[in-house]
Amino acid sequence: METSLVLVKPDGVQRGRIGTILSRFEAKGLQVVGLKLMKPSRDLLEKHYAVHKERPFFESLLKFMSSGPVVAMAVRGEGAIGVVRNLVGATNGAEAAPGTIRGDFGMSKSFNLVHASDGADTAAFEMGLWFGDDTIDYDLDGLGWVNDPEA
Ligand code: CMP
Repeated sequence: METSLVLVKPDGVQRGRIGTILSRFEAKGLQVVGLKLMKPSRDLLEKHYAVHKERPFFESLLKFMSSGPVVAMAVRGEGAIGVVRNLVGATNGAEAAPGTIRGDFGMSKSFNLVHASDGADTAAFEMGLWFGDDTIDYDLDGLGWVNDPEA
């Protein structure tokens, strides 16, 4: 089982897409094990985006991510990190494949609606940062019909 951190960014919240985005993950057969609406501090965003610190867009990225509330989700499932990234699509909404969240709702490289962890190490780091121990383990009955135990 993997757990991926997903953020609905301020543009996704302001455009009324929280439910639409969340429902893509639920409909796929992933389990939401953490969920919160929050205004992230600069300190949290600096840590989250530390890998981009030297990029020219770093300051504008932090400004954008601080501009309104975001929704943080912890999404769990078999191979969840890769599955979530496929559902999210390429960084630039204008180029992202139709059917993906960014491909269906975005036109921009920066206002791209969602963030998703890009690998196992990043996911562990980001989950610690945004949720700590604040996730909930629970049985989700429908999951028995998502992954075939015999396959
Ligand atoms: P995200 O998945 O949150 O990870 C890093 C973010 O930086 C990315 O989504 C975009 O929002 C943003 N980003 C990446 N490349 C650019 C760029 N060239 N100009 C502005 N923002 C960018």
